[in-house]
Amino acid sequence: MKINEPIIALDFPNKEDTFAFLNKFPTDQHLFVKVGMELFFSEGQDLIRKLKDRGYSIFLDLKCHDIPHTVEKAMTVIGKLDVDLTTIHAAGGSEMMKAAKEGILNGCSTNNPTKILAVTQLTSITPKMLKNEQLVDVPLEKSVINYAKLAQNNGIDGVVCSGNEANLIYKNCGEDFLKITPGIRLLGEDVGDQKRVMTPQKAAEQHSNGLVVGRSITQASNVIEAYKTVKKQWLEGK
Ligand code: C5P
Repeated sequence: MKINEPIIALDFPNKEDTFAFLNKFPTDQHLFVKVGMELFFSEGQDLIRKLKDRGYSIFLDLKCHDIPHTVEKAMTVIGKLDVDLTTIHAAGGSEMMKAAKEGILNGCSTNNPTKILAVTQLTSITPKMLKNEQLVDVPLEKSVINYAKLAQNNGIDGVVCSGNEANLIYKNCGEDFLKITPGIRLLGEDVGDQKRVMTPQKAAEQHSNGLVVGRSITQASNVIEAYKTVKKQWLEGK
């Protein structure tokens, strides 16, 4: 799967703010957008259909994590929406990941079913939290690689990972296993609450297959220019 455009994180509270932002782009511009929990819980499936009507590619980022049966049924519902990407937590285990895949395949009616990405360790988890709260005694990177391989071995298509982890996952899981990277900032920009940030170019050089970019584009004074700059830098790094 080649993703040649930044995936824009639509971290807005409602459809009004979402479309006020999207309407800044030309109507014939193809976009790849990410809908997360806040916007989906607020606007539901209707919003996904509206975005699809515009011809956008969609990443529905709901990070599902439950017993296998429950995740399978939830994934069947997501599969019916015919989005391009969705997420689960690798911490749910091998049986849950297999069930997620099964669920998506049951729901999707196209021959290009929704690809599932696993969250390994959230980028908000620190080495100290891993040791003291999860009682995991291996370095964070090792846990990330372990989850990435577990996901790959159970039919999952890729992971969400920091730019720093992308190269490591590339070496362990190969090019085709998707590595989608958030925490992207342009040089000299405010990093906000992100701890480990990277430029689009550097992420591409680290073998990321796709970028998730939120505030660098959504909060920019000139949205179109910011989008073009991120895209240009991303393609330059490839
Ligand atoms: O505004 P910013 O570019 O930091 O937004 C990043 C987006 O990527 C947000 O939607 C955030 O939820 C998401 N994300 C992340 N780190 C992860 C997984 C997802 O920042 N590990």
